[in-house]
Amino acid sequence: MNKKRLLFVCLGNICRSPAAEAVMNAKIKNAGIENQVTCDSAGILGYHSGEKADVRMRNHALKRGYKVTSISRKFNAAHDFDAFDMIIGMDDQNINDLNLLTRTSADKGKICRMTDFSTQKLYNYIPDPYYGGPEGFELVIDLLEDACDGLLGYLKKVSK
Ligand code: 4NP
Repeated sequence: MNKKRLLFVCLGNICRSPAAEAVMNAKIKNAGIENQVTCDSAGILGYHSGEKADVRMRNHALKRGYKVTSISRKFNAAHDFDAFDMIIGMDDQNINDLNLLTRTSADKGKICRMTDFSTQKLYNYIPDPYYGGPEGFELVIDLLEDACDGLLGYLKKVSK
């Protein structure tokens, strides 16, 4: 497999994309391909830069065995479009915002949507859990586990 560098992007980089990074890292480890895929995450907003992920997200993820360790940072177009192979947004707004930041068609070609890799197709976006209750965090992890399975399958397929 050619080494793939994945960047998960949401609005604040404290809920969805840090969880995506943690879930995907666990899948990568299980598959034994840690040396072939790397994961990072970033937010469209820099509002929470330097902060740990939201404690609710960390706790819900930990209940399923995922340790969310990332520190929030703002998406940096000048760096990130070159440093990553796939830039994976969580919802329409993330995708629109990322598209507005592209410099070239190559940049545009790197943008994809987390739920494009879903196998169950229950949602076509990962809903923002920030202003809601615990069920929203559980739903995010359900959707991410499924989409990360699909993403892993995609990476294995394109590496053949
Ligand atoms: P995230 O959730 O995009 O999944 O990290 C949010 C976190 C913070 C805010 C919005 C969404 N905020 O407006 O502060």
